[in-house]
Amino acid sequence: MKGRRAIGIFDSGVGGLTVLKEVEKILPYEELIYFGDNLRAPYGSKTTEEILEFTLNIGDFLIEKNVKMLIIACNTATAVALEVLKDRLNIPVIGVIAPGSISAINLTKKNKIGVFSTPVTAKMNAYKNEIEKINKDIEVYQIGCKPLCKMIESEWEDTKENQDIIKYYVKKLPMEIDVVVFGCTHYPIIKEYFYRELKGKKFVNPAKETALEAEKLLKKLKLLNKRESKGLVSFYTSGNVNKFKKIAEKILGKPIKEIKQALN
Ligand code: DGL
Repeated sequence: MKGRRAIGIFDSGVGGLTVLKEVEKILPYEELIYFGDNLRAPYGSKTTEEILEFTLNIGDFLIEKNVKMLIIACNTATAVALEVLKDRLNIPVIGVIAPGSISAINLTKKNKIGVFSTPVTAKMNAYKNEIEKINKDIEVYQIGCKPLCKMIESEWEDTKENQDIIKYYVKKLPMEIDVVVFGCTHYPIIKEYFYRELKGKKFVNPAKETALEAEKLLKKLKLLNKRESKGLVSFYTSGNVNKFKKIAEKILGKPIKEIKQALN
């Protein structure tokens, strides 16, 4: 019976859908509840106090929905609130930074990793600290990219000006790095624009590793959903429903029947 409850997934906006997509692939029978805090995005330029307050509210909202596990599909919220949410909630809580770090460590041959993230994630040294916990010899270069989340939330366009913004951040990375982490769940949405500038580098999208971590934990806790038909996915946003629908359908590549508004 316990396994039938949904998994809660949240982000500041549509970025966490890149994680939801992997969770749907790896755990197709699970019911999922996605919450995008589009009204308050971007988190990356807010204070840690504000981010903590938003995430605690979302945690409470998803607990009311009776979720059996919480996936923080946002690096910034993971950096700020993972430990607090783990302490506060009575269910397993996972973030994206530890899974992303492990993938990057496994991939690097030169022990030099670059991470693109929001300014908050970079300033908190979230990836550097996580990677150094496992291997102190690895150098981590963290680049905070202030405008990107907002631009992706309002539909990225393939223009020269936008490509120049990517170039500007790419130039900040030393070229000796061999692995690049998308340390913001919004960035895989525009991955090809990073690929253009960083040919020959290996990329990490922490989403897949996070979904595998969720699977491992649910198995261990005997909380997997035993059903054998596709699980329901419910969507909530604190922002504009039509705007969310348009961009979310593009990211997921399929129509979404219903999106509800909450916490607005
Ligand atoms: N998608 C988020 C992350 O992974 C947050 C982006 C933002 O709201 O600034 O960090």
